[in-house]
Amino acid sequence: MIRAKKIEEVREQIQKWKAEGLTVGLCPTMGYLHEGHLSLIDASRNDNDRTVATIFVNPMQFGPTEDLAKYPRDFERDCAMLEEEGCDMVFAPEDSEMYAEDFCTFVDMTGVSEGLCGASRPVMFRGVCTVLTKLINIIHPNKMYLGKKDAQQLAVVRRMVRDLDFDLEVVGCPTVREEDGLAKSSRNTYLNEEERIAARKLSRSLRAAQDAIAAGENSSERLKAIITEGLSDEPLFKIDYVEAVDGLTMKPVYKVKDGDLIAIAVWDSTTRLIDNFLVGDPLIEF
Ligand code: PAJ
Repeated sequence: MIRAKKIEEVREQIQKWKAEGLTVGLCPTMGYLHEGHLSLIDASRNDNDRTVATIFVNPMQFGPTEDLAKYPRDFERDCAMLEEEGCDMVFAPEDSEMYAEDFCTFVDMTGVSEGLCGASRPVMFRGVCTVLTKLINIIHPNKMYLGKKDAQQLAVVRRMVRDLDFDLEVVGCPTVREEDGLAKSSRNTYLNEEERIAARKLSRSLRAAQDAIAAGENSSERLKAIITEGLSDEPLFKIDYVEAVDGLTMKPVYKVKDGDLIAIAVWDSTTRLIDNFLVGDPLIEF
């Protein structure tokens, strides 16, 4: 696996591959990899001749009080996992390689990015859109792989790609979960034993809503009440949001239908966890 730290190195390699007529898949990450990330690599390897992963803890998408400084990092472990998965190149730039001191250009969005996570993390999607625009311009992928675990991020990026005519396909990959149902996340490493046990209640409350939908419920208010009830008996939790929205626009819906998104964000003590399902998705198992 090629390890690149400089934009120029990446451009040269990509040019070689493109000259050979090879297709390239991009899997952007912030590292501290787990099976969720590796599922993106796997999907890209199935679809493309070459797969590039990026590891960059993007400072622009963290608010001033967020976990940028303590975000978990282990570059050597990540590289071993990527290599094992058959990734062809990893691009892991320094902050200064991505953002010049006088950097002042941003890709921003209204609407899709404003509710849910955008409401409690106001700078996040501007940071995500800006960094992904840069990575797309550096790597020129044919396809880019993102997880459905971050459903609003996926919707935001799909909209950016459409609105700005990026010449690539965005592929959404299913959420990979722990055996007890908790969605895998680099941030799960912040949880102590008690918080980790409490964290099961996210997927369980979503599953209760899935069961209710299967039994014919379609009122978003009642579904949100079922989820809130499943979360509110946990003393460690503070609910950030429980929402039912259109899967593309992220606007609230009153009657849910296939393709709508039911999404939650919860503070488990000091760690913010998110989870979701699309109406019509397979049932969450645990
Ligand atoms: P990160 O949180 O590292 O996630 C990288 C990619 O892995 C995202 O597309 C995310 O949705 C996906 N992913 C994370 N956990 C997953 C799981 N359990 N199952 C399936 N996919 C999962 O998301 C980011 O980084 C950043 O915002 C980034 C897109 C890299 C921009 O900086």
